[in-house]
Amino acid sequence: MSIDYSQKIPNNVNLAEDRTLQRALEQWQPNFIQWWDDVGPEGSTDFQVYLRTAVSVDPQGWAHFDYVKMRDYRWGIFLNPADANRTIHFGDHKGEKAWQDVPGEHRANLRRIIVTQGDTEPASVEQQRHLGLTAPSLYDLRNLFQVNVEEGRHLWAMVYLLQRFFGRDGREEAEALLERTSGDPDNPRILGAFNEKTPDWLAFFMFTYFTDRDGKFQLSALAESAFDPLSRTTKFMLTEEAHHMFVGESGVSRVIQRTAQVMNELKTDDPKRVRAAGAIDLPTIQRYLNFHYSVTIDLFGADQSSNAATFYSTGLKGRFEEGKRTDDHLLKDQTYTVLEVKDGKLVEKQVPMLNALNEVLRDDFIKDSIAGVNRWNKVLEKAGLPQRLTVPHKAFNRRIGALAGLRISPEGQPVGEAEWHARQGEWLPSDGDRAFVASLMGRVAEPGKFANWIAPPAVGINRQPIDFEYVRFA
Ligand SMILES: [Fe+2]
Ligand SMILES: [Fe+2]
Repeated sequence: MSIDYSQKIPNNVNLAEDRTLQRALEQWQPNFIQWWDDVGPEGSTDFQVYLRTAVSVDPQGWAHFDYVKMRDYRWGIFLNPADANRTIHFGDHKGEKAWQDVPGEHRANLRRIIVTQGDTEPASVEQQRHLGLTAPSLYDLRNLFQVNVEEGRHLWAMVYLLQRFFGRDGREEAEALLERTSGDPDNPRILGAFNEKTPDWLAFFMFTYFTDRDGKFQLSALAESAFDPLSRTTKFMLTEEAHHMFVGESGVSRVIQRTAQVMNELKTDDPKRVRAAGAIDLPTIQRYLNFHYSVTIDLFGADQSSNAATFYSTGLKGRFEEGKRTDDHLLKDQTYTVLEVKDGKLVEKQVPMLNALNEVLRDDFIKDSIAGVNRWNKVLEKAGLPQRLTVPHKAFNRRIGALAGLRISPEGQPVGEAEWHARQGEWLPSDGDRAFVASLMGRVAEPGKFANWIAPPAVGINRQPIDFEYVRFA
């Protein structure tokens, strides 16, 4: 499954043989480039960046690293290879052959699923637009651009599905994906977390750790889809998503490492003294974590949702690792635990599992998130420090579902309105925290040099040395 880069739009879907589709995509392409120039990574057009490019979709196809001028980056359409015998393995169509086309009765729901996923991809590029100006090293700048170009390609992946399978509606949706803008009050992105700002690199690392991980779970659920082209394209996207989460996990880990070093040098845990030494104090890191975690778990949607049940039963969207589960994959008589508030207390209640599939996916995400936070705590442990980071309770700071708007502490205790306001600054980043973190940001552009607030990585990209020139300016 090699990718044809000789074409205007690199692809492994035989675009040359589908003239109508090729024309539609070639008409959309200049609008995409315009969008990228307007709201993509600021000032990067002439940079030569040491990027990883897919040359085929098999695992070895990822081995291609080279300098690419940002202006000349080639976004394309890459699907995992088809399995002619693939069958649907959950929901009412279980056992039937996977669909190569969109069944009429599922058209509206599938379109909605693809548009919602597609909308997140350009949104994150917009959110990260200015970060290149303050990258803490060339290594980090390169990683930012790698994430950005791949999110751009994820948009292509969804636009391919819309234009190939949804006719005129699909073409209109493809245009609308370039018209909405993250944070725009009149025409915002569809989901809340994708309208938040990513103003500094701590926010970027938290975003790629938590919010790109939401991407992993959504894409994994879509990779189970009965609609085979969606399954194949999301499987390939998942290989790219892994790198985004690596950037987040290792980024936060390096911030913690540097903070721990400063704390040990000064023999202090006083946030003021840590800040005065130019590092980010642990309570601020915890508050950023609380914010990005709570905003991200909202992305999974309402804890009870008849849409979630429909998407599952009709075979459009499965569960995370559906194939590894040993139940009947129909879930009709099963129940699941969700939280609700009764007499001012959080209590558990059993609801039909089909309706709770958003919650099931959210809980899978939570488990996965905690594992990485434990790895961050190992950095503190190794440094001999007693402090630990934690993920807040899932009812903390929610905006979606039954827990929306409740005043719950990070430990899961209901608190009154007055206490919430009094203690918010302990739990969520304040303007002062953000201003402090912003004050540390400034571009470090000398190979092998790193900003004072972050430790160097353990190894370079593609076994290059850490002082490799990952980005050449102009
Ligand atoms: Fe993505
Ligand atoms: Fe991503």
